[in-house]
Amino acid sequence: MSTALIILAAGQGTRMNSDLPKVLHPIAGAPMVVHAMRAGQTLDPERIVVVAGHGADQVKKAALGFDETVEVVLQSEQLGTAHAVAQARETLADFEGDVVVLYGDTPFISSDTLEALIAARQAHDIVILGFDAADPARYGRLVMEGDDLSRIVEFKDATEDERAITFCNSGVMAADAKTLFALIDEVGNANAAKEYYLTDVPAIARTKGLSATAVACDEAETLGVNSRAELAAAEAAFQARMRAEALDNGVTMQAPETVFFAYDTYIGRDTVIEPNVVFGPEVTVESGATLRAFSHLEGCHVSRGAIIGPYARLRPGAELAEDVRIGNFVEVKNATLDEGAKVNHLTYIGDASVGEATNIGAGTITCNYDGVFKHRTEIGARAFIGSDTMLVAPVKVGDEAMTATGTVVTSDVPDGAMAVARAKQETKPGLARRMFDRLRAQKARQKEKN
Ligand code: UD1
Ligand code: MG
Repeated sequence: MSTALIILAAGQGTRMNSDLPKVLHPIAGAPMVVHAMRAGQTLDPERIVVVAGHGADQVKKAALGFDETVEVVLQSEQLGTAHAVAQARETLADFEGDVVVLYGDTPFISSDTLEALIAARQAHDIVILGFDAADPARYGRLVMEGDDLSRIVEFKDATEDERAITFCNSGVMAADAKTLFALIDEVGNANAAKEYYLTDVPAIARTKGLSATAVACDEAETLGVNSRAELAAAEAAFQARMRAEALDNGVTMQAPETVFFAYDTYIGRDTVIEPNVVFGPEVTVESGATLRAFSHLEGCHVSRGAIIGPYARLRPGAELAEDVRIGNFVEVKNATLDEGAKVNHLTYIGDASVGEATNIGAGTITCNYDGVFKHRTEIGARAFIGSDTMLVAPVKVGDEAMTATGTVVTSDVPDGAMAVARAKQETKPGLARRMFDRLRAQKARQKEKN
């Protein structure tokens, strides 16, 4: 059976108090709507339709950035969840199969839950995902008759008895596409909110002799984000899960609560992550690496046995081979470092390649930017770059070449050569002492005057 996802993401999210559309607020480095898409991907959907409204252009860009096959439709006025789903009708006109409706601001539905939802479709026409709410608050209530869902009643429209129900609507729904769109045609807006409620669908289905049911999931999965406080809570929940998974996968962390992962961070077994390490998106770390305290990594690859930090920054395009060493206050961007290369202190390596076993001295800078263009620095294998070398790109330093400390390299250094480009030292005997004497005497005279 093929599946299409419809992800509702048109709402403004007033309570976020933000210029950014709610579904674009990130959790672990990815916008919420991308989390919803990722959750839905466990169903291997044939089509994904995102319904955008507020900030539609930005939402479209984020959705396409994650998956370029996504179709984005516009709901220019937010007239309710049923109206939102109806916006996908034309796009899915030729689609045969099940539709699963997800919310863009409910990022944590698990794959097991979605599979249970689809499994329940074997016996029922409409399946709703419900949860037992600790505090049912303003959620829609699921009115059950045994296994059958007779209807959903929105809080605003519910009687006292109905409000006492704690089994609530998560918003997730599965149904055959054609059936669902036909039922949505019959949804009206004669209710307390004057909205077209998707939640009217089960009751309408029942009047047509169709069956509806609800499957239950853990409340944590249906956590919706409506405010910054809920966003922070969602981030915390997500980080807790990522940390637990990393520990289970054989990663050592002395203080896991201080390590922040991105949604797609991959860490190999027997890697050690010291306290206060932060990951941006697209980081892969092989087995047996050490990420020392206070390092920040994004868009990079760290190979087996490498030691990074403390206080290192790896930026997008940093490709580190086995046993590379990156020390304190070193920044690496868009650069490959071959096996065993060492960059231990206070250095910037950007738009560069560094050959195997090359040693880069403290305070080295690849001067990659001329204010308009970026240029590359290529350094060979087993080379030695003296401390405080400025490599003015584009420039090449050969295998087993050296640069003297303080050298400004502006032209290529061939294999085995040594480049020295610095002012010659002059030493004046006794001059320092004479200067100190003069300056101290001057200070003493000033003190007497005051
Ligand atoms: C909805 C459900 C409620 C459920 C709750 C779970 C309805 C009528 N009610 O209520 O039963 O317990 O979610 O969180 O469905 N959206 C659009 N276009 C619209 C309206 C909404 O895209 O015109 C999107 C929103 O951006 C949001 C989602 O649909 O992602 C849910 O809308 P929201 O207004 O939050 O519905 P609730 O009142 O929370
Ligand atoms: Mg809501």
